[in-house]
Amino acid sequence: MGSPIIISLSLCLALILPSFAKVSVQLPGLGKVIGNTNTTLRTGKTFMQFRGIPYAQAPSGRNQFKAPVKRQPWSTFQATEYGRVCPQLKEFNRLPNLMTGEDREDCLSLNVFTKNLNAKQPVIFYVHGGSLKDGFASQYPPGYLLEQDIVLVVPQYRLGVFGFAGTKSYKMPGNLGFMDIMLALEWVQQHISAFGGDKSNVTVFDESSRGDLGGALLASPKTPASSFHRLITQSGSAVDTVLVNEDPIGQVQRVCRALRCTQCERIEDMETCVVNADLWNILRAGDSENYGLIVGDFYGTIPQTPAQLIGTSNIDGPTRTSFTKHDGSVVEAYLYKF
Ligand SMILES: *[C@@H]1O[C@H](CO)[C@@H](O)[C@H](O)[C@H]1NC(C)=O
Ligand SMILES: *[C@@H]1O[C@H](CO)[C@@H](O)[C@H](O)[C@H]1NC(C)=O
Repeated sequence: MGSPIIISLSLCLALILPSFAKVSVQLPGLGKVIGNTNTTLRTGKTFMQFRGIPYAQAPSGRNQFKAPVKRQPWSTFQATEYGRVCPQLKEFNRLPNLMTGEDREDCLSLNVFTKNLNAKQPVIFYVHGGSLKDGFASQYPPGYLLEQDIVLVVPQYRLGVFGFAGTKSYKMPGNLGFMDIMLALEWVQQHISAFGGDKSNVTVFDESSRGDLGGALLASPKTPASSFHRLITQSGSAVDTVLVNEDPIGQVQRVCRALRCTQCERIEDMETCVVNADLWNILRAGDSENYGLIVGDFYGTIPQTPAQLIGTSNIDGPTRTSFTKHDGSVVEAYLYKF
């Protein structure tokens, strides 16, 4: 009988101190997550945010260049800040104290934003852009979309050499960043109802050029049926040839040479060179490369080009293609120094 008081007290707190009120959710089989609250941009509605929830084990050490592995359960996870960004040169150059022994590759987290834990709201799963080598979740704050009664999920995934370079072998399978996103979608099916999300109403929403990973999810035979139900793509298309890496082995060979390894002729030698290089050297060596999906990757996520696969999609639902206004103005960013 004491619960109405507690509820009204926490509601008051939520109204008075939107950014400080703590909220928690128990995820069956995984653990408790503690989040906080914020308010929407236009009408000031309070929403809950659970940020930086790890969905996969750190893709470092033995897991580096391997298919993502589900995160081990925890007892309580403080999900009150965004998780670490996935290794990318531009951001890492800005970060202080990079060599402090933290696991910089432990970046496979996702963020959940919701206004109601007890509802069955449609879910938006937002896949960020950045040409498959840049980008992170905090660049896409929820204040606008949360005006609607939805649950927003924003995952991070491996980028650049770590996420998208590969030789189609067990050592460097290829398309690992894409597999990260698939694992995050699976997490949504398992856990989103605890956040008031309807797992049978998931819209994948993506943005930008090579990063039409949503269209690739539609195309992949490894995407489970009913893991999402609609797709909105912006400024990109899965049938565009830029999404495909035309010469993945040649790319790994260039990275091998940029790493100044002496043996870069045989595939096994290139792999050994890249897999054993350190994080910073890999970031620098891979910086001038363009990334794309690898057709014929080791795990069979993209066995043929997305254009060839799209007709046999496991996903049966509407898609909408559009363009982000002023997307091309990203070019201006290169003309100015920030
Ligand atoms: C709340 O949202 C505002 C606007 O997006 C942002 O600047 C601020 O950092 C957020 N605060 C927290 C605690 O998330
Ligand atoms: C998903 O949610 C939207 C918005 O509430 C609704 O219009 C639509 O009918 C729902 N779709 C399904 C399959 O439940």
